[in-house]
Amino acid sequence: MLKIVITYGTFDLFHVGHIRLLKRLRALGDQLVVGISSDEFNQSKGKSSFFSYEERAEIVNACKYVDKVFPENSWDQKVSDIEKYGASIFAMGDDWEGKFDHLKEFCDVLYLARTEDISTTDIKKKLSKFDQDKINDLESALYDIMDIVKTLTVK
Ligand code: CTP
Repeated sequence: MLKIVITYGTFDLFHVGHIRLLKRLRALGDQLVVGISSDEFNQSKGKSSFFSYEERAEIVNACKYVDKVFPENSWDQKVSDIEKYGASIFAMGDDWEGKFDHLKEFCDVLYLARTEDISTTDIKKKLSKFDQDKINDLESALYDIMDIVKTLTVK
């Protein structure tokens, strides 16, 4: 019988931490199915992603460690997903340690170590900082131009 592994996540701005987790999850069994948080579900958690659900699902589905993706629309669909996909392992990164122990009556529940020093939140912060740096550069360039214009127009 095939050993099916199931996991969930937003997987926005797909990064190496995601890849490493998916690789290790796939190695736990024969097939990996991934629930991708829908935009509406993210909104209900007060989160918004850069890429839409369709884009995130397409990206994760293109990963060679992933066999199937499906939408995650609510917190309480996990038991029916485990049954639907015949999953014998439910696994997440260890930022979720203990949060899904109630699923242990349906399958094995594992929490894998996260890759250190990378997250979507961190990437977003760094990119917005670059934007601010650019704005500062443009502002100072504008002041330089204004100074030059002043010297040209002063009689
Ligand atoms: N993950 C991981 N290592 C990382 C980042 C994420 O193993 N450095 C795992 C998470 O533990 C989760 C899955 O990847 O099981 C999807 O996580 P997601 O929340 O989409 O990624 P994050 O980068 O943690 O995003 P955010 O900063 O928005 O929480």
